[in-house]
Amino acid sequence: MKFDTPATTNPIDQLRVVGRPVDRIDGPRKATGTAPYAYERHDVAPHAAYGYVIGAGIAKGRIASIQLDDARRAPGVIEIITAANAGKLARAGRNTATLLGGPEIEHYHQAIALVIAQTFEQARAAAQLVRVRYDRRRGSYDLAQARDAAAKVPNRPDSAIGDFAAAFAAAPVKLDATYTTPDQSHAMMEPHASVAAWQGEKLTVWTSNQMIDWCRADLATTLGIPRENVRVVSPFIGGGFGGKLFVRADALLAAIGARAVKRPVKVALTRPLMMNNTTHRPATIQHIRLGATPDGKLTAIGHDSWSGDLPGGKPENAIQQTRLLYAAPNRLSTLRLAALDLPEGNAMRAPGEAPGMMALEIAMDEMAERLGMDPVAFRILNDTQVDPEKPGRPFSQRRLADCLRIGAERFGWQARNARPGTRREGQWLVGLGMAAAFRNNQVMKSAARVRVDGSGMVTVETDMTDIGTGSYTIIAQTAAEMMGVPLEKVLVRLGDSDFPVSSGSGGQWGGNSSTAGVYAACVKLRDAIAQHAGLDPRQAVFENSQVRAGGRSVPLASIAASAPEGSLAAEDVMEFGDLDKRYQQSTFGGHFVEAAVDAATGEIRVRRMLAVCAAGRILNPKSARSQVIGAMTMGVGAALMEELAIDRRLGCFVNHDLAGYEVPVHGDIPHQEVVFLDETDPLSSPMKAKGVGELGIAGVAAAVANAVYNACGVRVRDYPITLDKLLPKLPLQA
Ligand code: MOS
Repeated sequence: MKFDTPATTNPIDQLRVVGRPVDRIDGPRKATGTAPYAYERHDVAPHAAYGYVIGAGIAKGRIASIQLDDARRAPGVIEIITAANAGKLARAGRNTATLLGGPEIEHYHQAIALVIAQTFEQARAAAQLVRVRYDRRRGSYDLAQARDAAAKVPNRPDSAIGDFAAAFAAAPVKLDATYTTPDQSHAMMEPHASVAAWQGEKLTVWTSNQMIDWCRADLATTLGIPRENVRVVSPFIGGGFGGKLFVRADALLAAIGARAVKRPVKVALTRPLMMNNTTHRPATIQHIRLGATPDGKLTAIGHDSWSGDLPGGKPENAIQQTRLLYAAPNRLSTLRLAALDLPEGNAMRAPGEAPGMMALEIAMDEMAERLGMDPVAFRILNDTQVDPEKPGRPFSQRRLADCLRIGAERFGWQARNARPGTRREGQWLVGLGMAAAFRNNQVMKSAARVRVDGSGMVTVETDMTDIGTGSYTIIAQTAAEMMGVPLEKVLVRLGDSDFPVSSGSGGQWGGNSSTAGVYAACVKLRDAIAQHAGLDPRQAVFENSQVRAGGRSVPLASIAASAPEGSLAAEDVMEFGDLDKRYQQSTFGGHFVEAAVDAATGEIRVRRMLAVCAAGRILNPKSARSQVIGAMTMGVGAALMEELAIDRRLGCFVNHDLAGYEVPVHGDIPHQEVVFLDETDPLSSPMKAKGVGELGIAGVAAAVANAVYNACGVRVRDYPITLDKLLPKLPLQA
């Protein structure tokens, strides 16, 4: 099915099952420990040997020698894989560095060996006996130092509209400020883990991956085998956040290891390896210039962003939202990329907007203060209903102003004192802050197959993943709505490359795109069922597990039972036309935060949070809310604690565990409220939904930063906002 004209009324609009806050159907399996995660697949790959990954001890250079003899003689060791005996490996286009290094080393903790033994402990012990000597070369590990040599990025031209320089120079009110965001780590609970097994030429990998088809294709490319010979299975994923969009060393080395030892091999990346071995969100330096008239109309918006990556890598697109969020006739935004020898930078938790909004939305707060305007009113005044770079191109839906107004009212924003440091409760200085939320809506081709059997059970199969987001549930709701059956009569099978290729889970495109694929398959199945029952497909109504037309009603179960195979099946793919080019599709929101700062110690506590989101139809308000409060929690982490600390001599991230890399815990997070505007977006898909997960993070950190400023009067432009950055500037205590 091709989606190239706006959606009209369709069966989803009945909202009998879709749109309801039903519990996640995978919940009981998770709560009872019966949802199988990759490293636990003893059932399908018994007697696996254990692989232990050795990471490079330098960031840049060459392995001069590697001594394996002692390790090979250690108890239980079966084999040791290195680049020397792994066979010829290619690098898939989605990986910047090779996954098995040696002799050249591209980054710290790049995998250089896999020790395979009978037990995990034996493999780990033997790994300590591997002696590696390196020829270390000097690397570049400091974005600020590398910034001047940063270059333009292919296919990312500067965007210049009007005459920014002149307009900024002439603006009566100006802001010119620089903000920095640090390197961050996904730090998902479940580490990257895989079990691999070969049957002849055929490889099966049980892994933890957001994008089954990318994983399959890239494993095949890397190993130099046909794609058809690779099966990837990933039905449950303990968090990904972008860190599992790509094949990583666990999957590749498990596959190479299993081929070498002729039995299944399982590999998990240990926590200390993850920060440097896998990808991370790159640090940014962002220079923002805003010019406005005295009454608050923006006349000039400039945003320059620098980030770094390994040679051949990608920039953090921190200017993405600035090109779309506020009106102003004169605009300039630029991306520059520096070559660094730190581990590979890549997508993490709303790449682009999350760090971009961290800077832009503090800048908007600073500008509002300069103008003497309320930050909510300032944003609403500069709202736009068209793409500000291409005014002929409207947004499909844009209710940013509604989100901000409703949020302000619900949060009690009018109680805020614009003068910082004026509200005191005992030891605490208390402030309110807000920020706009913005994240683009992307649509991705997605396929599914659906069948109904003689018991009336509807089974959906697609290689879509559920990374803890609720995919199982919204897909079941979609099929139940389309086929007119209760939720209990739908079985959803996900995360297997034997199933039709879906959108996968990334970039907040998964919910809308994958359910649209299920919708397409269900439309086909409805036709097949009606025809098989001799009913007019155009008249057929699917309700109460029956199909009805022309005064006749037949149970789905009996129609399916009378089909040759005892079931009826259909497969289709939802393909998207150019509606996302003709219209700018984005999601919007407002984040509101109350924060308290200890007047003496600078300790920061977030006290209240509210998000108001406009993201098209909300397919399941309960799982969507969970997405958004999870994202808000990550936003607090970005504001106050998350930072990969760089050792600039060795070129690695030092804090490579969850003690050193801090993320919010329950005690850090207060009451969170989420409001979804009641809207549908018929330009996005027949589901009329958009993405919502990443919208929940984009803007939060700035709202926290603005609340901290309002509380204590100290403006911090370098994330995370830790108390050491407040202390020197806090008013002296009597
Ligand atoms: Mo997302 S950072 O595209 O998983």
